[in-house]
Amino acid sequence: MQIILGITGGIAAYKAAELARLLVNRGHRIRCVLTEAGARFITPLTLSSLTGEPCYGANPDQGEWRANPSIEHIELARWADLVAVVPATANILGKAANGLADDLLSTVLLATRAPVLWAPAMNTGMWEHPAVQANLVRLRSFGHAVVEPGEGALACGEEGSGKLAEVASIAEAIQAQGTPKLRSLRDRQVLITAGPTREDLDPVRILTNRSTGTMGIELARAFRDVGARVHLVLGGEAPAPWGVETTRVHSAQQMLEACLARWANSDGLVGAAAVADQRPERPSPEKVKKGEGPETLVLVRTPDILAQLSSVRRPDQWVLGFAAESEHHLEHAMAKLKKKGLDAVLVNDIQGGRGFGAQASTLTPLTAQGPHPPLGPQSKDQLARAVVQWWAQRLEVRPE
Ligand SMILES: Cc1cc2nc3c(=O)[nH]c(=O)nc-3n(C[C@H](O)[C@H](O)[C@H](O)COP(=O)(O)O)c2cc1C
Repeated sequence: MQIILGITGGIAAYKAAELARLLVNRGHRIRCVLTEAGARFITPLTLSSLTGEPCYGANPDQGEWRANPSIEHIELARWADLVAVVPATANILGKAANGLADDLLSTVLLATRAPVLWAPAMNTGMWEHPAVQANLVRLRSFGHAVVEPGEGALACGEEGSGKLAEVASIAEAIQAQGTPKLRSLRDRQVLITAGPTREDLDPVRILTNRSTGTMGIELARAFRDVGARVHLVLGGEAPAPWGVETTRVHSAQQMLEACLARWANSDGLVGAAAVADQRPERPSPEKVKKGEGPETLVLVRTPDILAQLSSVRRPDQWVLGFAAESEHHLEHAMAKLKKKGLDAVLVNDIQGGRGFGAQASTLTPLTAQGPHPPLGPQSKDQLARAVVQWWAQRLEVRPE
């Protein structure tokens, strides 16, 4: 993506340098535009060195704007696939909400047709002021995205809301805002399960598996980015992705209950969690003491989440499953697809430890018609995007 990073006059301006670097490392081209106040907090030299692109100043006599003052704001507005303002002061929010254009950044913001994203940062009193909140409502009504500030200790010495969101979250929001939306998934409600489940043996011991949750989390990001409204039901410890409503669960039973609560309002389900097949029959309420001789653990089946949700689905709902198989993977996956009534299974060949947490993986999509060309080998974030594109294409031609 070609991104204009607007930087305005707040202490958090130094974090824009970290963001610029992160985005460049992810393959984006970044051109920074500083306001006059922004240039008091961070220098153009830092930003142009990090991005390898010109850094623009506020006025025609500053920075690169000098080169071609009459049209540079229009050129930049056209160049951008996305304009992000990080950090955004109360001042720039007020200007943009009211169509004011008295420097390069505010003029680019008015001229551009690209998506716009704001990451505000300011003192709590400023943030909570009705004028600022009204400006944000207005900016959102233009289709702009806002990465809400968090709470914490602010540079002014106060404690409260107004602290710039985490740089990693802003980078995710930029990715989401800049990704083209897909007609078959836009505003659709997608339920995704991810991560391992854990079955208690006693208060300190659990039965679990090697899943990291990465694939399901990347799928949640990929569906979010193309415009779906994602609800993630997540087992394990992995952090939840930005912009995805998440329910954390522990056991298979909890995962089933969380999914059942949302299934009627969902358009589709992606079952990417590694759900435990068994749980201890009698978990102990107290820590089990060391015994002398050999001990036997009696296991019982956990609920089959995919099969249960699939059995109560409406004809307009779709269900995608995953199969991690170490042998005869396509035959086993086809049996799973038929038995559970799934629309497709993404088959992961885990022979030799591949698949769990591994960097590059391959997935073979399987439908009732048979296997499709494999996706990958790719990193899991790219693979997730490939799965979403593949499935969106099939949804386009699927009868309602
Ligand atoms: C040390 C200092 C820190 C400031 N921090 C912020 C801030 O975090 N958020 C904010 O909205 N304004 C902050 N301001 C006020 C803005 O810099 C001021 O409103 C300025 O006119 C903003 O101009 P700009 O929006 O064109 O960058 C700060 C001012 C100073 C002197």
